[in-house]
Amino acid sequence: MSVPAITPWVVGNWKMNPMQASAKQLVQELKQLLQNQNIEESDCHMGVAPIALALTDIRAQLHDSSRTVYTVAQDVSRFAGTGAYTGEISAELLQDSGIGFVLVGHSERREYFADTPAILNEKIKNALNANLKVIYCVGESLEQRENGQAELTVLQQICDIAAVVQAEQWNNIIVAYEPIWAIGTGKTASPEDAQAMHAKIREGLSQITPAGKTMAILYGGSVKPENAVELAACPDINGALVGGASLNAESFYKIAQAFANTK
Ligand code: PGA
Repeated sequence: MSVPAITPWVVGNWKMNPMQASAKQLVQELKQLLQNQNIEESDCHMGVAPIALALTDIRAQLHDSSRTVYTVAQDVSRFAGTGAYTGEISAELLQDSGIGFVLVGHSERREYFADTPAILNEKIKNALNANLKVIYCVGESLEQRENGQAELTVLQQICDIAAVVQAEQWNNIIVAYEPIWAIGTGKTASPEDAQAMHAKIREGLSQITPAGKTMAILYGGSVKPENAVELAACPDINGALVGGASLNAESFYKIAQAFANTK
């Protein structure tokens, strides 16, 4: 099922990288590239997700960029508001610091930090209630794919959140499909396989909400300039969540350019 034009999103997930000086330089280089040859906001939305410590600095540094580049938190607490939760950052505290976006459900959080569907639902509920936009990550493991359970796994992950997302809040969700076996491995899903899964996700979303037809569904997993054009050409791939390649300004810029040019 192809969809009406959806402005793509290209978001860099920096994960636990880099040191502050390198982060500043990376942003400086990205700003320079955008200044030399801008990518129109209407052609591609852009965002970067630095470590929590750097969120406000990077946001400030991006303030005078020639176009909007959103600053995205990599995680949010399952607890709302303020309180005695050592080490945590709530959705309200992110909002209070001017951070309007958050990643929820990244496979690394699910795997290493025991972010269960119940915990992810708390995070999503709090984030949406604090008016954050959520980039919700889903994806199957290699074993699940080999057992023919990729689709079931991913659609279940979509259904998991339906209990906490209010009807009018779906517009504040971006889905990122990231097959776990493709993350940081250099292996990308073929554009055909990625498109097939994206179409299934869109079908699943559309059964839950009318917004499903127009929600952005990003692909993630070893996206680089070399494969971005092909991925961008797929009708239901509306952008990319980029890990490794987002740590290089030129690579990240080129990926955004590929999506901007194709859509
Ligand atoms: P990668 O990471 O691009 O390094 O594979 C993607 C992600 O985990 O978001």
